[in-house]
Amino acid sequence: MVNVMKLRQVPRDPIIGTNHFCHKSNLRDLYPFNEPNILLFGYARIALLDGMIKLGLKEGDEILVPSYICNGVLAPMHYLKLCVRFYDVDHELRPDWDSVKKNLSAKSTTLLVVNYFGFPTDGEEARKICDCHHVRLIEDNAHGFLSRSGSQHLGTYGDISVFSFRKTVCVPNGAAVVFNEKGIPSEGYADACYRLGNSRSSLRFFARSGMTTLQCLLGLKRYTAPPLKDLCDDPYQDQNEEYEVANYLYPISPISKHLLERIDFDRHASERQQMYQQWVEFFNNRNHYSGEKVRILWPDLPSGVVPYVFPLLVKNRADLIRDYWRQGIQCFPWPFLPRDSRENYFTKRLVCLPVNSYFRISDFLGK
Ligand SMILES: Cc1ncc(COP(=O)(O)O)c(C=O)c1O
Repeated sequence: MVNVMKLRQVPRDPIIGTNHFCHKSNLRDLYPFNEPNILLFGYARIALLDGMIKLGLKEGDEILVPSYICNGVLAPMHYLKLCVRFYDVDHELRPDWDSVKKNLSAKSTTLLVVNYFGFPTDGEEARKICDCHHVRLIEDNAHGFLSRSGSQHLGTYGDISVFSFRKTVCVPNGAAVVFNEKGIPSEGYADACYRLGNSRSSLRFFARSGMTTLQCLLGLKRYTAPPLKDLCDDPYQDQNEEYEVANYLYPISPISKHLLERIDFDRHASERQQMYQQWVEFFNNRNHYSGEKVRILWPDLPSGVVPYVFPLLVKNRADLIRDYWRQGIQCFPWPFLPRDSRENYFTKRLVCLPVNSYFRISDFLGK
């Protein structure tokens, strides 16, 4: 299995490893599966769509969204024809609360905050502002499945919270919306309307993840980093496919449900944390890349946080991505910037380094 055999290439997405299959977990004991008001979907953007419909959002309603955000979040808002207003984030990716307040208007109905890369945002402040201005709070926890702030799971302070399991563990698809408020109906709009494509997407998943696993074991793609264009480095690139919710209207696949019950989540979380610490040490020891200083976005990993990636800020992102791919590390930019968001401090600087499989960094870099 992958964790015992030596990876010759580190994948950007979770692949099947020894944390799968040898375990039987009871999902009913695990947050958010133990929530009574949870609805499962294939993708978080559809979970978000469903949640927004249940919250009563309709055409013309104003929603506040951080300016540093991806198409996947904006797609359902465009679908519902909401009016999106962007607020600023600071250099630690925290909401700039003054900018939030400045953007609130009489037409604002909802504030969306993001737990970037599995790290908690200030939910208490967000809640205070929402209560004070009588707007709904959406917690985008797509990066934060398994992650906690202290003893509290992420995804518990929004009126609704969304999850994307497939970003943290190797499943064909899988996402959820949790209604943290009482009295919101429980039948999933998208789930009820679109029962498409299960077996096809599951088959594709096995073919694709089997191939990726093999490629990583053999190091096949090591010298063929995709052109940056394919990593969506260009914010003005046409990304209609991702922008269309119709392409993501899948229910959660039965295979995903099956796999989720066979993953050793504790071990998986701990491996992600160890990998994160390894990256911190690595960049503490070499804090320059091609003559320019690099910045570790969050050098401290609070206990309980299960990271989605290790985010690093570099001046020459394109060079680093190309170089690391060549050395077997599949790093990537985030987000795939939508055409209608503004450029900011992070644009073209942030690189995500993978933490989803356990490996020794020194086996790949800095030889
Ligand atoms: C912060 C955030 N929220 C939501 C999504 C949408 O997730 P999914 O790809 O499962 O629809 C993404 C990814 O695209 C994301 O990065």
